[in-house]
Amino acid sequence: MNYRHAYHAGNFADVLKHAVACRIQAYMAAKAKPLLVLDTHAGAGAYDLTGPEADRTGEYRDGIARLLDLDPVPPLLDPYLERVRRLGGARNGALPAYPGSPWLLADGLRDGDRLVACELEPTAHQDLAHLMRRRANQPGTVKVRADDGWAALTSFLPPPERRALVLVDPPYEAADDFPRLAERFLKAHRRFPTGVFVLWYPVKQRSRVDALHATLRNSDPKNLLIAELGLYPGESDSRLNGCGLVIANPPYTLADELTETLPLLNTRLTKTTTGTHHLITL
Ligand SMILES: C[S@@+](CC[C@H](N)C(=O)[O-])C[C@H]1O[C@@H](n2cnc3c(N)ncnc32)[C@H](O)[C@@H]1O
Repeated sequence: MNYRHAYHAGNFADVLKHAVACRIQAYMAAKAKPLLVLDTHAGAGAYDLTGPEADRTGEYRDGIARLLDLDPVPPLLDPYLERVRRLGGARNGALPAYPGSPWLLADGLRDGDRLVACELEPTAHQDLAHLMRRRANQPGTVKVRADDGWAALTSFLPPPERRALVLVDPPYEAADDFPRLAERFLKAHRRFPTGVFVLWYPVKQRSRVDALHATLRNSDPKNLLIAELGLYPGESDSRLNGCGLVIANPPYTLADELTETLPLLNTRLTKTTTGTHHLITL
Protein backbone atom coordinates (compact mmCIF):
# COMPACT_ATOMS: atom_id res chain seq x y z
CA MET A 1 0.00 0.00 0.00
CA ASN A 2 1.79 3.11 -1.21
CA TYR A 3 -1.15 5.49 -1.39
CA ARG A 4 -0.93 8.53 0.94
CA HIS A 5 -4.01 10.70 1.00
CA ALA A 6 -2.02 13.62 2.50
CA TYR A 7 -0.87 14.51 -1.04
CA HIS A 8 -4.47 14.81 -2.25
CA ALA A 9 -6.45 15.99 0.79
CA GLY A 10 -8.94 18.72 -0.05
CA ASN A 11 -8.62 18.35 -3.81
CA PHE A 12 -11.60 18.56 -6.18
CA ALA A 13 -12.28 14.85 -5.73
CA ASP A 14 -12.46 15.19 -1.94
CA VAL A 15 -14.76 18.17 -2.33
CA LEU A 16 -17.32 16.24 -4.40
CA LYS A 17 -17.16 13.04 -2.31
CA HIS A 18 -17.19 14.75 1.09
CA ALA A 19 -19.89 17.28 0.17
CA VAL A 20 -22.23 14.52 -1.00
CA ALA A 21 -21.47 12.23 1.98
CA CYS A 22 -22.01 15.03 4.54
CA ARG A 23 -25.22 16.16 2.83
CA ILE A 24 -26.65 12.64 2.77
CA GLN A 25 -25.72 12.13 6.43
CA ALA A 26 -27.43 15.40 7.39
CA TYR A 27 -30.49 14.34 5.42
CA MET A 28 -30.60 10.90 7.07
CA ALA A 29 -30.08 12.46 10.51
CA ALA A 30 -33.34 14.36 10.10
CA LYS A 31 -35.12 11.06 10.89
CA ALA A 32 -34.99 10.23 14.60
CA LYS A 33 -33.65 6.70 14.20
CA PRO A 34 -30.09 5.46 14.80
CA LEU A 35 -27.78 5.29 11.83
CA LEU A 36 -24.64 3.28 11.04
CA VAL A 37 -22.03 5.14 9.03
CA LEU A 38 -19.49 2.77 7.48
CA ASP A 39 -16.32 4.28 6.00
CA THR A 40 -14.58 1.33 4.35
CA HIS A 41 -11.33 3.08 3.33
CA ALA A 42 -11.03 5.81 5.92
CA GLY A 43 -7.49 7.22 5.71
CA ALA A 44 -5.79 9.13 8.54
CA GLY A 45 -8.72 11.46 9.21
CA ALA A 46 -6.86 14.79 9.38
CA TYR A 47 -4.37 16.41 7.01
CA ASP A 48 -1.98 19.29 7.61
CA LEU A 49 -2.40 21.68 4.70
CA THR A 50 0.73 23.57 5.76
CA GLY A 51 2.83 20.38 5.61
CA PRO A 52 5.24 19.20 2.90
CA GLU A 53 2.86 16.66 1.29
CA ALA A 54 0.02 19.12 0.72
CA ASP A 55 2.50 21.78 -0.33
CA ARG A 56 4.22 19.51 -2.85
CA THR A 57 1.10 18.86 -4.91
CA GLY A 58 -0.88 21.96 -3.97
CA GLU A 59 -4.04 20.03 -4.86
CA TYR A 60 -6.13 21.61 -2.09
CA ARG A 61 -5.45 25.04 -3.61
CA ASP A 62 -7.45 23.97 -6.66
CA GLY A 63 -10.04 22.28 -4.45
CA ILE A 64 -11.33 23.33 -1.05
CA ALA A 65 -9.36 26.61 -1.07
CA ARG A 66 -11.53 27.79 -3.97
CA LEU A 67 -14.73 27.32 -1.97
CA LEU A 68 -13.88 28.84 1.39
CA ASP A 69 -15.29 32.27 0.45
CA LEU A 70 -18.50 30.88 -1.04
CA ASP A 71 -21.51 32.94 0.01
CA PRO A 72 -24.34 32.07 -0.20
CA VAL A 73 -23.63 28.37 0.24
CA PRO A 74 -26.00 26.03 -1.63
CA PRO A 75 -27.73 23.29 0.42
CA LEU A 76 -25.56 20.52 -1.08
CA LEU A 77 -22.38 22.15 0.23
CA ASP A 78 -23.71 23.54 3.49
CA PRO A 79 -23.05 20.68 5.99
CA TYR A 80 -19.67 20.01 4.33
CA LEU A 81 -18.37 23.58 4.28
CA GLU A 82 -19.57 24.25 7.81
CA ARG A 83 -17.73 21.15 9.08
CA VAL A 84 -14.56 21.80 7.06
CA ARG A 85 -14.31 25.42 8.18
CA ARG A 86 -14.87 24.55 11.85
CA LEU A 87 -12.81 21.33 12.09
CA GLY A 88 -10.03 22.64 9.87
CA GLY A 89 -9.72 25.86 11.87
CA ALA A 90 -10.47 28.26 8.99
CA ARG A 91 -9.32 31.80 9.74
CA ASN A 92 -8.99 34.87 7.56
CA GLY A 93 -9.64 32.86 4.42
CA ALA A 94 -6.95 30.24 5.19
CA LEU A 95 -7.48 26.61 6.15
CA PRO A 96 -4.59 25.06 8.13
CA ALA A 97 -5.99 21.53 8.21
CA TYR A 98 -8.36 19.41 6.18
CA PRO A 99 -10.70 16.88 7.83
CA GLY A 100 -10.89 13.56 6.00
CA SER A 101 -14.03 11.48 5.59
CA PRO A 102 -14.04 9.76 9.03
CA TRP A 103 -13.63 13.05 10.88
CA LEU A 104 -16.29 14.80 8.80
CA LEU A 105 -18.70 11.90 9.29
CA ALA A 106 -17.90 11.48 13.00
CA ASP A 107 -18.81 15.14 13.40
CA GLY A 108 -22.31 14.46 12.08
CA LEU A 109 -23.09 11.62 14.51
CA ARG A 110 -25.97 11.94 16.96
CA ASP A 111 -26.46 10.03 20.21
CA GLY A 112 -27.18 6.43 19.22
CA ASP A 113 -25.38 6.68 15.84
CA ARG A 114 -22.26 4.64 15.09
CA LEU A 115 -19.31 5.21 12.81
CA VAL A 116 -17.16 2.24 11.80
CA ALA A 117 -14.01 3.40 10.02
CA CYS A 118 -11.68 0.81 8.43
CA GLU A 119 -8.09 1.61 7.57
CA LEU A 120 -5.44 -1.01 6.82
CA GLU A 121 -2.29 1.07 6.50
CA PRO A 122 -0.71 1.03 10.01
CA THR A 123 0.40 4.69 10.27
CA ALA A 124 -2.88 6.05 8.92
CA HIS A 125 -4.77 3.67 11.20
CA GLN A 126 -2.81 4.85 14.23
CA ASP A 127 -3.30 8.54 13.36
CA LEU A 128 -7.03 7.99 12.89
CA ALA A 129 -7.40 6.06 16.15
CA HIS A 130 -5.58 8.87 17.97
CA LEU A 131 -7.76 11.55 16.36
CA MET A 132 -10.96 9.71 17.23
CA ARG A 133 -9.93 9.20 20.86
CA ARG A 134 -9.91 13.00 21.19
CA ARG A 135 -13.64 13.16 20.40
CA ALA A 136 -14.57 10.69 23.15
CA ASN A 137 -17.23 12.89 24.79
CA GLN A 138 -19.09 13.80 21.61
CA PRO A 139 -22.33 12.20 20.39
CA GLY A 140 -22.34 8.74 18.83
CA THR A 141 -19.74 6.01 19.01
CA VAL A 142 -16.74 5.55 16.74
CA LYS A 143 -14.82 2.33 16.11
CA VAL A 144 -11.58 2.55 14.16
CA ARG A 145 -10.72 -0.88 12.79
CA ALA A 146 -7.67 -2.30 11.05
CA ASP A 147 -10.06 -4.36 8.91
CA ASP A 148 -10.08 -4.86 5.17
CA GLY A 149 -12.68 -2.36 3.96
CA TRP A 150 -13.87 -4.68 1.19
CA ALA A 151 -14.62 -7.42 3.72
CA ALA A 152 -16.30 -4.88 6.04
CA LEU A 153 -18.83 -4.20 3.27
CA THR A 154 -20.35 -7.56 3.96
CA SER A 155 -19.36 -8.19 7.59
CA PHE A 156 -21.05 -5.00 8.88
CA LEU A 157 -24.12 -5.18 6.65
CA PRO A 158 -27.00 -5.43 7.26
CA PRO A 159 -26.60 -3.45 10.50
CA PRO A 160 -28.83 -3.84 13.56
CA GLU A 161 -29.92 -0.22 13.07
CA ARG A 162 -31.43 -1.18 9.67
CA ARG A 163 -30.19 2.17 8.35
CA ALA A 164 -26.73 2.85 6.99
CA LEU A 165 -24.68 5.31 4.99
CA VAL A 166 -21.72 3.51 3.42
CA LEU A 167 -18.77 5.38 1.88
CA VAL A 168 -16.44 3.30 -0.32
CA ASP A 169 -13.31 5.24 -1.24
CA PRO A 170 -10.50 2.84 -2.21
CA PRO A 171 -7.12 4.06 -3.47
CA TYR A 172 -7.37 2.35 -6.90
CA GLU A 173 -3.76 1.15 -6.68
CA ALA A 174 -4.70 -2.32 -7.88
CA ALA A 175 -5.63 -2.84 -11.53
CA ASP A 176 -8.76 -4.76 -10.53
CA ASP A 177 -10.17 -2.14 -8.14
CA PHE A 178 -12.84 -1.11 -10.68
CA PRO A 179 -14.32 -4.60 -11.12
CA ARG A 180 -13.85 -5.22 -7.39
CA LEU A 181 -15.85 -2.09 -6.60
CA ALA A 182 -18.77 -3.34 -8.68
CA GLU A 183 -18.58 -6.89 -7.39
CA ARG A 184 -18.32 -5.98 -3.68
CA PHE A 185 -20.97 -3.27 -3.94
CA LEU A 186 -23.43 -5.64 -5.62
CA LYS A 187 -22.79 -8.26 -2.95
CA ALA A 188 -23.29 -5.70 -0.15
CA HIS A 189 -26.42 -4.36 -1.84
CA ARG A 190 -27.89 -7.86 -2.04
CA ARG A 191 -27.35 -8.22 1.71
CA PHE A 192 -28.73 -4.77 2.46
CA PRO A 193 -30.78 -3.36 -0.46
CA THR A 194 -32.03 -0.29 1.45
CA GLY A 195 -28.57 0.97 2.43
CA VAL A 196 -27.37 4.30 1.08
CA PHE A 197 -24.04 3.69 -0.67
CA VAL A 198 -21.63 6.31 -1.98
CA LEU A 199 -18.93 4.79 -4.19
CA TRP A 200 -16.09 7.01 -5.39
CA TYR A 201 -14.18 6.35 -8.61
CA PRO A 202 -11.41 8.15 -10.52
CA VAL A 203 -11.76 9.15 -14.16
CA LYS A 204 -8.47 8.43 -15.94
CA GLN A 205 -9.22 5.88 -18.64
CA ARG A 206 -12.80 6.31 -19.79
CA SER A 207 -13.10 2.65 -20.78
CA ARG A 208 -12.84 1.55 -17.12
CA VAL A 209 -15.58 3.94 -16.08
CA ASP A 210 -17.80 2.87 -18.98
CA ALA A 211 -17.31 -0.78 -17.98
CA LEU A 212 -18.30 0.03 -14.38
CA HIS A 213 -21.43 1.83 -15.54
CA ALA A 214 -22.32 -1.04 -17.89
CA THR A 215 -21.95 -3.61 -15.10
CA LEU A 216 -24.16 -1.58 -12.79
CA ARG A 217 -26.73 -0.85 -15.53
CA ASN A 218 -27.09 -4.59 -16.16
CA SER A 219 -27.44 -5.42 -12.46
CA ASP A 220 -30.33 -5.47 -10.04
CA PRO A 221 -30.02 -2.22 -8.08
CA LYS A 222 -32.22 0.50 -9.47
CA ASN A 223 -32.18 4.13 -8.49
CA LEU A 224 -28.42 4.58 -8.94
CA LEU A 225 -27.40 8.20 -9.34
CA ILE A 226 -24.06 9.01 -10.99
CA ALA A 227 -22.43 12.40 -10.52
CA GLU A 228 -19.20 13.25 -12.33
CA LEU A 229 -16.87 16.21 -12.42
CA GLY A 230 -14.30 16.37 -15.21
CA LEU A 231 -11.35 18.74 -15.13
CA TYR A 232 -9.46 17.65 -18.24
CA PRO A 233 -10.47 15.82 -21.41
CA GLY A 234 -8.69 12.76 -22.77
CA GLU A 235 -7.26 9.53 -21.42
CA SER A 236 -4.49 9.13 -18.91
CA ASP A 237 -2.74 6.37 -16.99
CA SER A 238 -1.77 8.65 -14.15
CA ARG A 239 -3.47 12.06 -14.16
CA LEU A 240 -6.80 12.36 -12.41
CA ASN A 241 -8.86 13.87 -15.22
CA GLY A 242 -12.03 13.76 -13.22
CA CYS A 243 -13.94 11.72 -10.70
CA GLY A 244 -17.36 10.33 -10.10
CA LEU A 245 -19.71 9.01 -7.47
CA VAL A 246 -22.22 6.21 -7.71
CA ILE A 247 -24.96 6.82 -5.17
CA ALA A 248 -27.38 4.01 -4.36
CA ASN A 249 -30.70 4.92 -2.74
CA PRO A 250 -30.00 8.66 -2.76
CA PRO A 251 -32.27 10.98 -0.77
CA TYR A 252 -34.98 12.21 -3.13
CA THR A 253 -33.67 15.79 -2.93
CA LEU A 254 -30.12 14.90 -3.97
CA ALA A 255 -30.53 14.87 -7.75
CA ASP A 256 -32.00 18.39 -7.75
CA GLU A 257 -29.29 19.64 -5.41
CA LEU A 258 -26.58 18.14 -7.62
CA THR A 259 -28.22 19.66 -10.70
CA GLU A 260 -28.05 23.04 -8.99
CA THR A 261 -24.52 22.74 -7.62
CA LEU A 262 -22.42 20.68 -10.07
CA PRO A 263 -22.16 23.66 -12.48
CA LEU A 264 -20.98 25.87 -9.61
CA LEU A 265 -18.36 23.30 -8.61
CA ASN A 266 -17.30 23.02 -12.22
CA THR A 267 -16.86 26.79 -12.54
CA ARG A 268 -14.99 27.14 -9.25
CA LEU A 269 -12.77 24.06 -9.49
CA THR A 270 -11.85 24.01 -13.17
CA LYS A 271 -8.98 26.18 -14.29
CA THR A 272 -9.44 25.54 -18.00
CA THR A 273 -12.43 25.77 -20.32
CA THR A 274 -12.50 21.98 -20.59
CA GLY A 275 -14.40 21.29 -17.38
CA THR A 276 -17.45 19.05 -17.58
CA HIS A 277 -20.11 17.76 -15.23
CA HIS A 278 -22.67 15.01 -15.64
CA LEU A 279 -25.56 13.69 -13.66
CA ILE A 280 -27.19 10.49 -14.85
CA THR A 281 -29.50 7.86 -13.42
CA LEU A 282 -28.76 4.24 -14.25
C1 LIG B 1 -8.49 7.41 -0.90
S1 LIG B 1 -7.83 7.04 0.66
C2 LIG B 1 -9.13 7.36 1.77
C3 LIG B 1 -9.47 8.78 1.97
C4 LIG B 1 -10.60 8.99 2.94
N1 LIG B 1 -11.75 8.15 2.59
C5 LIG B 1 -11.05 10.43 2.93
O1 LIG B 1 -11.91 10.78 2.11
O2 LIG B 1 -10.56 11.21 3.76
C6 LIG B 1 -7.84 5.28 0.66
C7 LIG B 1 -7.34 4.67 1.97
O3 LIG B 1 -7.63 3.28 1.95
C8 LIG B 1 -6.59 2.60 2.64
N2 LIG B 1 -6.70 1.20 2.20
C9 LIG B 1 -6.17 0.58 1.13
N3 LIG B 1 -6.63 -0.67 1.00
C10 LIG B 1 -7.50 -0.86 2.04
C11 LIG B 1 -8.33 -1.94 2.44
N4 LIG B 1 -8.36 -3.09 1.73
N5 LIG B 1 -9.11 -1.78 3.52
C12 LIG B 1 -9.08 -0.63 4.24
N6 LIG B 1 -8.32 0.43 3.90
C13 LIG B 1 -7.54 0.32 2.82
C14 LIG B 1 -5.34 3.32 2.23
O4 LIG B 1 -4.31 3.11 3.17
C15 LIG B 1 -5.85 4.78 2.19
O5 LIG B 1 -5.61 5.40 3.43
